[in-house]
Amino acid sequence: MTRSPFPDNFLWGAATAAYQIEGSPLADGAGPSIWQRFCHDPRLMAAPGDTGDIACDHYNRMESDVALMKQLGLQAYRFSTGWGRILPEGVGRVNQKGLDFYDRLVDTLLAHDIEPLLTLHHWDLPAALDDRGGWLNRDSADWFAEYADILYRALDGRVKKWVTLNEPWVITDGGYLHGALAPGHRNMFEAPIATHNLMRAHGRAVQAYRATGAHEIGLVVNIEPKYPASDSIEDIAATARAHAYMNRQYLEPALLGRYPDKELKEIFGPAWPQWPAEDMAEICQKLDFIGINYYTRAVVRADPAQWPQRASPVPQNATHTTTGWEVYPPAMTDMLVWFRDSFGNIPLYITENGAAFYDPPQAGPDGIDDPLRCDYLRSHISAVGEAIRQGVDVRGYMAWSLLDNLEWSLGYSKRFGIVHVDYESQQRTPKRSAHLYSEIIRTNGANLA
Ligand code: BGC
Repeated sequence: MTRSPFPDNFLWGAATAAYQIEGSPLADGAGPSIWQRFCHDPRLMAAPGDTGDIACDHYNRMESDVALMKQLGLQAYRFSTGWGRILPEGVGRVNQKGLDFYDRLVDTLLAHDIEPLLTLHHWDLPAALDDRGGWLNRDSADWFAEYADILYRALDGRVKKWVTLNEPWVITDGGYLHGALAPGHRNMFEAPIATHNLMRAHGRAVQAYRATGAHEIGLVVNIEPKYPASDSIEDIAATARAHAYMNRQYLEPALLGRYPDKELKEIFGPAWPQWPAEDMAEICQKLDFIGINYYTRAVVRADPAQWPQRASPVPQNATHTTTGWEVYPPAMTDMLVWFRDSFGNIPLYITENGAAFYDPPQAGPDGIDDPLRCDYLRSHISAVGEAIRQGVDVRGYMAWSLLDNLEWSLGYSKRFGIVHVDYESQQRTPKRSAHLYSEIIRTNGANLA
């Protein structure tokens, strides 16, 4: 057997996000978020009627969910805090009961020897702040730093890995450009402004952390490698635009202090402004790690009809998940090597990776059999191992997701969990993929070699 490429202290865990699992969104004095509003508007949801009102009822089942994590052998748990639970109006008055929930969660994790990775913002902006313009308001950077600081002061003694934002690209592209996600806007002039204020918010939150925090802080981005469909000049240019738009737009300001302006100007034209140098300095703060969420790749061709990137994906003859994403593990390795070659050997965590597939409606004698998800995990974790062999400093892997949950506007039909959730009874049943993952953790990946 070949030796496992994973270092001994490699951190194995699973991830979730507040609005996707917690339920009870207004309990104990919490304020509503933009996702609460979005889900309750059937004109906006692709799966009308599905909301986060109950979700996985994790808010009431936190202790048993943590016990389940322990049973699976997880060493880490990445979760997000609901901004509106802590600050119902987004700023100002602190709701102690909301803070207490996360306080208890962290204590419970530590009591089970599970390391918490806390994400400060996974898309559920308080509705009260959206009423003030949300991420289009320049003050949003200060609002976010105020909220972050409350959490640092409450939890930094116990939480040692912090994340500012989850996937700012998805917030802007889904929330402000295409309208598929909250707050549901569709405006080419807004998207660059939302991007820039999100990045300023990230920078301000890192600055606030350096003033009080003693551990590590980073940013989580989603990376989807782009490959040209042909070697035509048009397809190569379209691939470069798509890559700059999705993969470089957030990493470069955070790590290099500049946007890929040439490509973003090609995409947004006059809607892409020249940003002040002081803002860029504020955004580019030293980070302790980068978290990367990887799901799929795209093979890209030029397509003038596509707004505004003039690029579109070409379907591949391959296995696809139920969210329509091609399963292509080699891109995970390519992407990690590209990151190192572009930005240096900054410590990396895979903060999300996983797949939605149809699961059998009932458990069989061996539990819930999910062979495609098992293959997905095995092949993608091996691809991470390959990047480590090539010298990339990857320090941990978080499966998405611990539980089946609300897949945002697509509702409950897409199941990403390694643990099945029966939404009627709220019963949790680990799928075969959960057992496979436990074995990967137990052997530190040696069973994949
Ligand atoms: C998000 C998750 C989401 C997952 C699957 C990521 O974009 O961070 O919240 O459920 O992908 O779509």
